[in-house]
Amino acid sequence: MQEKVKSEPVHADFANDHDNQIDNKSANRRFDEVLRANVSRRTVMQGGIALAATGFLPKSAEATDSYGHYYAKRFPKPRGALIDFTAVPVADGNGPTPTVAKEYQYDVLIPWGEPIEPGGPAYQYPPTAEDQAEQIGIGHDGMWFFPKYRVRSNAHPALKRFASKRGMLVVNHEFGRNSHVLGKSDPESIADVRTSQHAHGVSVVEVVNRRGKWTTVRSKNARRIHVNTPVVFSGPVKNSPLLQTPNGNIPLGTVNNCANGYTPWGTYLTCEENFNGYFGASNRENTWVATPEQERYGFSDSGFSYGWHLFDRRFDLSDVDYQNEENRFGWVVEIDPNDATQKPVKRTALGRFKHEGVALVSGKGRRAVAYMGDDQRFDYIYKFVSADDWKVMRRKGISPLDEGKLYVARFNEDNTGDWLELTIDNPLLAERFSSQEEVLVYARVAADLLGATPMDRPEWITVAPNSDVYCTLTNNSRRTEPNAANPLVPNNDGHIIKWRDADKHTGLTFDWEIFLIAEETHGTEDSYSDPDGLWADPDGRLFIQTDGGQKDGLNNQMLVADTKTKEIRRLLTGVTSDEITGIAVTPDQRTMFVNIQHPGNGDPSLTNFPAPTDGVTVPRDATLVITRKDGGVIGS
Ligand code: FEO
Ligand code: CA
Ligand code: CA
Ligand code: CA
Repeated sequence: MQEKVKSEPVHADFANDHDNQIDNKSANRRFDEVLRANVSRRTVMQGGIALAATGFLPKSAEATDSYGHYYAKRFPKPRGALIDFTAVPVADGNGPTPTVAKEYQYDVLIPWGEPIEPGGPAYQYPPTAEDQAEQIGIGHDGMWFFPKYRVRSNAHPALKRFASKRGMLVVNHEFGRNSHVLGKSDPESIADVRTSQHAHGVSVVEVVNRRGKWTTVRSKNARRIHVNTPVVFSGPVKNSPLLQTPNGNIPLGTVNNCANGYTPWGTYLTCEENFNGYFGASNRENTWVATPEQERYGFSDSGFSYGWHLFDRRFDLSDVDYQNEENRFGWVVEIDPNDATQKPVKRTALGRFKHEGVALVSGKGRRAVAYMGDDQRFDYIYKFVSADDWKVMRRKGISPLDEGKLYVARFNEDNTGDWLELTIDNPLLAERFSSQEEVLVYARVAADLLGATPMDRPEWITVAPNSDVYCTLTNNSRRTEPNAANPLVPNNDGHIIKWRDADKHTGLTFDWEIFLIAEETHGTEDSYSDPDGLWADPDGRLFIQTDGGQKDGLNNQMLVADTKTKEIRRLLTGVTSDEITGIAVTPDQRTMFVNIQHPGNGDPSLTNFPAPTDGVTVPRDATLVITRKDGGVIGS
C-alpha cells in the first residue's frame, strides 16, 4: 500500500518499512569494530560530568496533576463496564472520512494551513513561506492540552469541567512530503525550502470550547516553532564543541517532531525523530564520507529527498562551515506553552537518538523519570532519572532535565531486565569516548557497547497509574534472530511490551512481559497492526493508535484496551492512507484530541479530508475532537 515513490520524501516510518535502513549494524557487524577501524582511540578524560544549570525555567505556575501524568492518583472504581461503547466494525473501517463508534462524535480542528489564531493568514494552497510560518504546520503528531485554569487530580468534578473548556493545545508537525506541501517533488528555490521548513515543527494554539464547539482564539502565547526558530541548548552537552559549527551560527530549530511528553511542572516536550533524513551531502558522490557516528545515525543513507541541502547550506553535510550542525538534532526539546517569550530548550541530558516520544513521571523521591524509545529497527529503550527531587531542583533554579543519569534497557530471557547507565565512568565507554558529552551525543554508540537489547522499533511509551510502563514495538520485518522481548521472526505487525521498574521507576532492575501481539488479532473483529501511539488513562484503559498497513481492509485506527482483561474495542478508524497519532485529553477526560496524519498521503484522488469529498481538494492533516454523545468519559 504505502509504497515509496522514488525521489519523493517519504515519512521515515514508511521508509523504514520499505528500504534497507538499519542503522544499528552492531548485531551483524560489531559497531566497536567499525569504529576502531575508523577512529583513533581518544584520550580518556579524567573526571566527571560537567553539569550546566539552565537559565530556562518556565514561568508557568508550579505544576498540578492536571498537567502531569495522572488525572487521578489511582484507579477509581468505574461504574459499569470500563469499556462500554460499540466497536466500529471491521466492515465500516475503510472509508475516505473517519468513522467513530456510534456512541461518539467528532469535529475537525486546526487543519494544516489554518492561521494559528483568528486574523492570521488564511489557508491557500500551496502556502507561501511567510504565511506558513504563521499557520498550522503539517504532519500532525504528538500533542498535549494544557488547561488555562489548573486543577488538581482530586479537584471537584465541576472544577475539572470548568478547566476543561479552555487551554493551550501544543501539536507536533512531524513531516510533510514536498509533493503535499509544495505541490512538486523537489524544491526549486530557497523560498520553497523555507515553506517546507515552516511546515515542520510545533504549533502552540489557544483553544476554547464554546457550547460544545472547539475553536482557536487570539492568544499572546499562540506561536509557531519551526526549523528556523532560535533554540538554546541546556544540560551536560550545552557548551560542547560537538554542538559548535566552524562558522559559529546560532542554534536554530527543531525537526521531525514525532511524539511528545509533558512535565509535572507544566511544560511540553517535543521529540526529534528522523532528523537524519533532512540532511544531504552536495558532494556525496565525490569526497563526502560519513563518519562512523554519522553512519550509526543514518546519515550515510540517502535521506528523504527533501532537497533542503541544495538551497540551505545548514543541511549540507559536506559543507565544512556547517560541520556538526547535524549534532544539534535528535534531542528532546522543552517548550513552555504559557510563555511565548521563552526559546525552546534542547535537553541534552536525555541523550541524542531518534526520539519517538517521552513519558515523564514523578518517581520515588519525586525524581523526574523519563522513558524514551529510539524508533529504528534494532534500536533501544532509554530511561532518564533526575539527580534529585524535581521540585527541590526547580526551587534551586536547576532544570530536573539537566542533571541526572541516562540508562538503556536490557531485557533478560527470564523476564527480568536491567537499566545500564550511559556513563563515561564505565571503562567500556571510557575506552571509546573522551567525555560524557560524547557519550550523550552518540548515545546509540554507547548503548551498543553496553549490550542493550535491540528492539522491534520502540515507538510510544506510557505509564499507567499503577506504575506499569507500556511500549509499542511497531514492527520489524527484518528480524531474523529472536530475543525474549522480541520473539517474532519476522515481526511484521508489532507487539506491546509492559514492564515495572523497581523502586517506583527509579530502580535499576525491572520485570517485564509481553502484553499484546498484533498478529493474533488478524481475521477477527479486533484486527489491528503496527501499534504506535499509546496512552494509559487514569482508569485502566490503554488507547492504542496504529501506523502501518492494517489487515482485514482497515484504515489506520485507534483502539481502547482494558489493561486488566486485555479486551480491545475499536473507537475510531481514520481515512484512506493516513496515520492515526497523537492523543491529548482534557482534565475531565470528556474531550480527546486525536490527529489524522497524512490523509490520502496527500493525494486528492484518494481523499479530500477534511473537505467534503469532491475529488479535487488536497487533503490536509488535522486534529479530530472526539466526544461521547452523552458527555461521558472518553473510552467508556
Ligand atoms: Fe514518528 Fe516512529 O513515528
Ligand atoms: Ca508515523
Ligand atoms: Ca510514531
Ligand atoms: Ca510509526
